[in-house]
Order: sequence, then structure tokens, then C-alpha cells
Amino acid sequence: MDPLQAADPSLLLARLHQLRDQIGYHNHRYHVLDAPEITDDAYDALFRELQELEQAHPEWITPDSPTQRVGTAPLEGFAKVVHRVAMLSIDTVADVAEFHRRVSEGLGASEIDYAAEPKIDGVAVSLIYRDGVLVQAATRGDGREGEEVTAQARTIQSLPLRLLGAGHPERLEVRGEIFMRLDAFERLNAALLERGEKRVFANPRNAAAGSLRQLDPRITAQRPLQLYCHGVGEGIAADWPTTHAQMMARFREWGLPTCPDAEVVRGVEGCRAYYQKLESMRDQLPYEIDGMVFKVNDLASRERLGFVARAPRWAAACKFPSREALTTVEGIDIQVGRTGALTPVARLAPVGVGGVTVTNATLHNFEELARKDVRVGDTVRVRRAGDVIPEVVEVVLAQRPADAVEIPLPTACPECGGAVARSEGEVVIRCVAGFSCPAQLKGAICHFASRKAMNIDGLGEERVELLLAQGLIADVADLYQLHTRSEPLVALERMGEKSVTNLLAAIEASRERDLARFLFALGIRDVGEATAASLARHFGSIAAVMEAGEDELQGVADVGPVAAGRVWHFFREARNRALVNRLLAEPGTGWHQATLRVVADGHPLAGATVVLTGTLAAWTRQEAKARLEGLGAKVSGSLSKRTRYLIAGESPGSKLAQAQALGVEILDESALLALVQGHALA
Ligand code: IVH
Repeated sequence: MDPLQAADPSLLLARLHQLRDQIGYHNHRYHVLDAPEITDDAYDALFRELQELEQAHPEWITPDSPTQRVGTAPLEGFAKVVHRVAMLSIDTVADVAEFHRRVSEGLGASEIDYAAEPKIDGVAVSLIYRDGVLVQAATRGDGREGEEVTAQARTIQSLPLRLLGAGHPERLEVRGEIFMRLDAFERLNAALLERGEKRVFANPRNAAAGSLRQLDPRITAQRPLQLYCHGVGEGIAADWPTTHAQMMARFREWGLPTCPDAEVVRGVEGCRAYYQKLESMRDQLPYEIDGMVFKVNDLASRERLGFVARAPRWAAACKFPSREALTTVEGIDIQVGRTGALTPVARLAPVGVGGVTVTNATLHNFEELARKDVRVGDTVRVRRAGDVIPEVVEVVLAQRPADAVEIPLPTACPECGGAVARSEGEVVIRCVAGFSCPAQLKGAICHFASRKAMNIDGLGEERVELLLAQGLIADVADLYQLHTRSEPLVALERMGEKSVTNLLAAIEASRERDLARFLFALGIRDVGEATAASLARHFGSIAAVMEAGEDELQGVADVGPVAAGRVWHFFREARNRALVNRLLAEPGTGWHQATLRVVADGHPLAGATVVLTGTLAAWTRQEAKARLEGLGAKVSGSLSKRTRYLIAGESPGSKLAQAQALGVEILDESALLALVQGHALA
């Protein structure tokens, strides 16, 4: 007989409850606090034990068991739920001063604290807990009546099925937002495409709504949804908090996640400062927001203010410019990149998106163009999120004019007229002409000169074009002969004597760059900064890289087989070797050798993620980055909870406030120097 069935049932039942509590606790540590206390293996062991117990005693399975998060059988349809307390909307105001004036008049007071929160672009939900157990989840619907999504909501890992702690009201209705983080949204769309789905989600809000409103909760379970709670519908308990901020703190004690970027601010000034801070953080936030919400913090004052029509008088929303807009496609251009990749780009009637005027949007590649079926004349939805380039999300088919023009697949390079090809297993169509294609040559020279490569200040696209057009250079090696031709340079339109001197000095300075930068600057496909650095570290000299066999290249840590193959082929081509040899013949260069770095194990920076902001007196950004990386730090462009230090130089940007909000330790330049000194690079 199965030992689980043989044992004393009351002992087994006690163990079952203990397991559920422990799993609930560790789930919260992991998914909400981002601070696990046990290993994944230990968690899995608890989970398995519970599963086995429930298998032996199916009569003990209840919907609030953590094992039920995987999703139950599909539903026939969504049941309707009438909200006992209507889910109101919020008034949008153009200026917080207007809102503050109404509130202070209503309360007859001038000093007012507001709970300021990001307005998260997701789906509003109502969650009902009875004696601390989730019994119902519903969408907002029209505010009066929504749809029941309990089975779907149960699959959300950060949503507690049972509240932690004690003192829960008998019936508690929590209101919040279900959303998808931007990175999760992008991964989901990529996975949908990979599976051959034709349509993907236009934005994180649609992705969240579409994932929650799945009749099959098992599909919802696979979608990375999250929850932030921001209010209460009903359920005031004894010793209930007196402010919104305290209520959120109580929620957190009960394991209900709340937005970490919320704050309490005072008066109009406080609201304005918060608005500015959030606006500057918008591109770095991991979730999409469409504005912010200000709510009177004191709950008794809210009661006094009451409601008008469908919105409370104690809350207001300030909207940001939308990340999406509709516009028309005036043409589809084909750009040729430095590796020959042909990229279709939609030329658009100018339109404001998220506060920026957009005239072009990428269509990524021709497969994507075909999938989205974008035609000249179409009305399209464009989106610009974070720092990424604007993209065409979808065509508004209902608006397609009869004479919309399809763009055929290119059969020749639009820049050089040469042949194009598509390699096996690749979606990208490329011009095969290499450096005899002017677009590729220009791209290669610009890449060589770029900041992370040889860092030749003042040598941008326009200058490169000019130098090529005048026959002053034909490749990157010619750059180092330019100093013998300063007269024709000065004669060039738009190049005064001073700028010629500066450019020549910048070219001279680039002789000092090391092997890692040099390898990256060569622009070998699939050889990014990190791969170039690994190669430099492993081989130490350019001669060794050039002579290395494919096997040896593959054996280098962090160098994949594709990149290894590319490097090997690059140096087998006579033209490439000739160019590299001309560069190597240049006197006084640092390209032949790797810079030796001693990674100081045990150094406080080893393995730490750091972010730089502002100007440092001692180093340029690039130098600081190199130093920090030499000590084993990872230098990142954006802050998160995982950032170890923010290094703030002179006039730091919005990152400073962001770091303070995240509780990230901030170092000024002298603190940084102190940390680095004594562990100087060899
Ligand atoms: S409070 C009566 N706080 O915005 C006030 N709403 O029109 C109730 N939303 O769909 C809402 N983030 O779900 C509040 N921090 C936040 C919010 C937020 C997003 C949504 C809400 C509703 C809409 C309000």
C-alpha cells in the first residue's frame, strides 16, 4: 500500500497545510520581493511533496493550492460579475494645479499629501479575498459589471492565492492592475513569431488583456503576467490604516504586490517634481505607463470629498504623450547596412509619438514586411517605446486605399545595383558586393570610427561620405594618411581649418587603441564588443588571431561557433588581410597587442553591476567603463534593483533620483577613486 495513504490522515493534512504555507511564503519571496531564501531545488522539492500528497488525496485539493497555478480546464465562457462597489474611472487633468485647487477648496486646507503612482498600462482587476483566501477575480468591464477571470488570475505567480500574515478582513476587495513587463512582452511576441503565429500583440496592454481573457487558464499560466495593487473596493477591518500609503504597506505585509515607484508627495510642487521624475524615468521603467495618478493620501479626507459622476474627487490622472500614433506610409525605402543587410524602412507622414516627431519606422526585414503586409498608402499604427527605434506595429486594414502599393522583394542592391542573396536559415537579404558597395563601405568606415570601436571623435556619417566622395579615402587604412593631405581637406566645403586639425588629432589619438577595440572595429559579422574582448584576452596579439585555426577560435571562452567561423573566414580573404596588414604597418599603434588586465578577485567591484551618470573629472565615460570592467564590474546603461552602485559625476542626470528611489548606493568620484585605487590595472 502507498505509504502516503497508510499514514495518519490528520498528520498528512497538517503537513499539507504546512507545505502550502511554506510554498506561499517562498513564492512571495521569489516573485514579489525578488529575494529568494531557498534554492530552486529546495523549492521544487517542497512543491513535489505537495503534489504527491494531493495525488494520494485528491479530495484535499482546493483552488488556493499552489499546485493549481498551472491552470485548470478550459471554460465555456466568461461569467458576468456585478461589482458591489463600482470600479470608477479617474478624471484626467492637464495640470495638477487645477486638481489641487479643487481638492484644497473641498477640504478647506492647503497642505495636502498625495499618493503619487505610475498609471500602469494594463488591465484593471478586482480581487476578492474571503478570510484571506482568493475567491474571485474579475475584470473592470464597464465599471459596473465585468467578467470573472478567477481561474486565469490564479495562474499569476505574484498574486497571492492566500494572504500572508494575519488580521485580514472577512471580505476584502483589492483593486489593481494586471500587466506585462516590457521585456516579457518582447519575449512573448518573439516566441509567438517563432511558433509561426502571424499576429503578435501590438503593445504590453493588449498582451496582458489578451492573456488574461483566455478561456483556457493553462494558456494564461504560460504568460508572464504581473500584478500591482493600488486600491481597495470594500473590506475595512478593525484598526484599518488612515492613509493610502499605510494601506499599501499593509497590502505588502499580506503579500499583495504594490508598485515600488509609488511615493507620497506634498502639494502641487511635490506632484510636479514627481511628474518630472517619472517622465525622465519613463524610458527606463520596466513596465509601460501612460501617465501618473495622484490620490489624496488621507482616507478620511477622501470620504469628505466623495464622487462626481463616474470618478472620485480625490484622484486625478496626468497623461503622458502616447507611445503610439496613426499615420500614413508615404514610401518604403530600403537601407543597406554595413554588413550588406537590406532593411525596409517605412517613410511616414510626420507624426508625434511619445513626445518625438517620427518620420521613419523600421520594418526590420522583408519577412516582417510581408507578414505585416505594409503597403505604400496604408494607414499604420507606429510605436516608439523606451530607447528603441520606432516601428510599424500594424496596418489599419479598414483604412487601406484601393491603390495601396506593395513593395516587391529586392532583386538587386538599391545602392550599388549588385546581386543580393539570402543565406540558408536567415531572414535577412544581403547585398553580396562587400566593400565595393558604397553603402557597405561607408557603414564599415563609420563603424570603425564609432565610439565603442576606434572612437575617432568628429568622424560621423556626413564626414565619411564627404571624404569618400572627394576620393580622399577609399578605406579605413587611408584615414591614417589623411595628415599628409590637410590642404585638400581644408578646401572641402564645411571643413574649416580648426575642424580639420581636430579631426586629424582624433585620428592620431586612435592609434593608441588596443587589440580588443581594433578587432571590434574591423566589423567582422557577429563579432561584438564582448567577443572581440574575449579574442584579445585569449590570443594577446593580432598575429595570433590571424593565424589561429577554426578549432582554436571555437575553443575561446564566450566565442560561439558562428563568430569563430566568421573570424576565420575574415582572415582567409586576401583583401581583408591586405587591409589589416596596411593598418598594422602604421607606426606607433597599440593595435597589435591586448591590454593586460588583472581581474581582482574579491575586489568589491568584481561581479558588481554599476551604472555611470554625469561627468567624471579624471576619466572619460569610456575610460571609466574600461577601468571598472577591468576590475570585474559589469557596466550597465540602466538602473534596476540589482544595480550595486550608481557612480555619479558632475551634473548627474535623472538616474540620480532613480537610484535614490531604488535604494541603490551612490558613489561620487572620490569614493569611486578610493574603491579603484590599490587595485590599479597592470
Ligand atoms: S486608481 C478611483 N491607480 O487606470 C481610482 N488606477 O481610469 C481607481 N490604473 O483602469 C483607480 N494605474 O486600473 C489607480 N496606480 C493606479 C493605476 C490605475 C493604472 C488604471 C485603472 C483604471 C484606470 C483608471
